[in-house]
Amino acid sequence: VGIDWGAGSYETTAGELEPVARVVVERAAITGGESVVDVACGTGNGALLAAVAGARVIGVDAAPRLLRVAEERAHAQGAALDLREGDLHALPLDDASADVVISVFGVIFAGDPERALAEVARILRPDGRAVITAWIPAGPIDAMLGAMGQIVGRAAQAPPPPRRFAWHDADALGPVCASAGLELVATTPDRLAIRGASPEAYVAAGASHPMAVAQRPMIDRLGLGAEIQLAMTTVLSGANEDPSAFLVHSPYVVHELRK
Ligand SMILES: C[S@@+](CC[C@H](N)C(=O)[O-])C[C@H]1O[C@@H](n2cnc3c(N)ncnc32)[C@H](O)[C@@H]1O
Repeated sequence: VGIDWGAGSYETTAGELEPVARVVVERAAITGGESVVDVACGTGNGALLAAVAGARVIGVDAAPRLLRVAEERAHAQGAALDLREGDLHALPLDDASADVVISVFGVIFAGDPERALAEVARILRPDGRAVITAWIPAGPIDAMLGAMGQIVGRAAQAPPPPRRFAWHDADALGPVCASAGLELVATTPDRLAIRGASPEAYVAAGASHPMAVAQRPMIDRLGLGAEIQLAMTTVLSGANEDPSAFLVHSPYVVHELRK
């Protein structure tokens, strides 16, 4: 089911993820004049950093509102971005047109991972490279979402959702890359610090994440809002590393791919 990433406010999350975009752009070792494509660029975190590094940057995303935010950010920073609305399963880009593809928690939303990776392979030049990130399903934020999933699953008496492709797992990703025409050359674990005023404030702000907005009608219909909020806050309070505010770490991996 496609979710509307323009709904609610993805901007809060984008602000949190910015350090990962920095890691990705650094790892991609972008040099001036290279052509870079940011797949599922959202509000343009990675695209803007690549532009600052001197690249010619195209950002592709399915959500027009987020592309407008990216455009405004580029304008404010005096950076030039070529932003295109499109699907990561059918990128609006020519074959062999990119030196570098980056995707910060972007291609991991592909309904068809092999097709998405084949698109990355198609648009890369023969010696091109790609750097993408994927969450490791562990840590407090994952546990918080798991707590919500359990409550919803129990109340809806629905079977658990199908397991998502294990984008973080090099053993799973390597063969899919190979079929798509890419080589997985390195996978490096890292962790992102996530801060807030308090666990309660973090959970409250999370209600405007596009995924939460998409689930809201179902949660309201089942009358589960308060129970879920309490369960999520309890998980985060138990994992909080900063008793005077809120700090947790989310593990993720950086994958480096070659054509
Ligand atoms: C977690 S956000 C990451 C955005 C951005 N890369 C960042 O670091 O902030 C996921 C993004 O994937 C985009 N997306 C999801 N499915 C997509 C698809 N099929 N084609 C293009 N973009 C898609 C969403 O619109 C959203 O901007």
